[in-house]
Amino acid sequence: MLVTLEGIDGTGKSTLLMALREKLADLEPVFTREPGATWVGESVRRAIAEQIDPITEATLFVADHAAHLATVVRPALRDNKLVISDRYSDSRFAYQSVTLEGVIPEPEGWLRAMHNGWSIVPDKTFLLAIPVDDALERLAEKSGREHFERREILEKVQDRYLAFARAEPGRFVVVDALMEKEELAGFVADAIRQMVAHGRKQKRK
Ligand code: TYD
Repeated sequence: MLVTLEGIDGTGKSTLLMALREKLADLEPVFTREPGATWVGESVRRAIAEQIDPITEATLFVADHAAHLATVVRPALRDNKLVISDRYSDSRFAYQSVTLEGVIPEPEGWLRAMHNGWSIVPDKTFLLAIPVDDALERLAEKSGREHFERREILEKVQDRYLAFARAEPGRFVVVDALMEKEELAGFVADAIRQMVAHGRKQKRK
């Protein structure tokens, strides 16, 4: 089962992940992330830091996704493991459709087409949503901002994410990121636990 966590920068995704590691330890999930842990992921981080042109950046993110699937996601799913990914393809569809605006004709369609035929669609995606002002406030406490972390960009990115959630209500769960930390982690952990239990029951039938 593949679960992904998405949301703009500053939603508290990292804090949630730390809590999930503890709460779901008995399920022995494989925790992973995009950009990933391979050298391809490193080149993505370098591209972000150097603010390379947006097409190079977008294609590197897709390359990183391919490496992530090959080295982590597919092997884990083959072993019937629960995989929890901090960011995944929806990050591309949300962020790069904004950074490629005006650069290529239909960024979102182009990005989705690049994933077609080989990528794996998550079983469930938790989208952390937050007023952009609150996200910026949280980011201000962190140093070394990336170029994605500007208000205009984050507003558009979050709008895209919310549109995806409306388009695929069966896959997305929109979570209010302003919820109290423990409550939020409890909610997401319980939802994942129920899905896993349900999945096992289905298999037994
Ligand atoms: P991440 O490492 O999750 O950010 P941090 O740990 O610094 O919060 O991701 C780095 C940035 O890359 C983040 O702003 C989101 C962006 N991003 C994309 O634009 N497209 C993508 O496909 C992914 C995976 C991330």
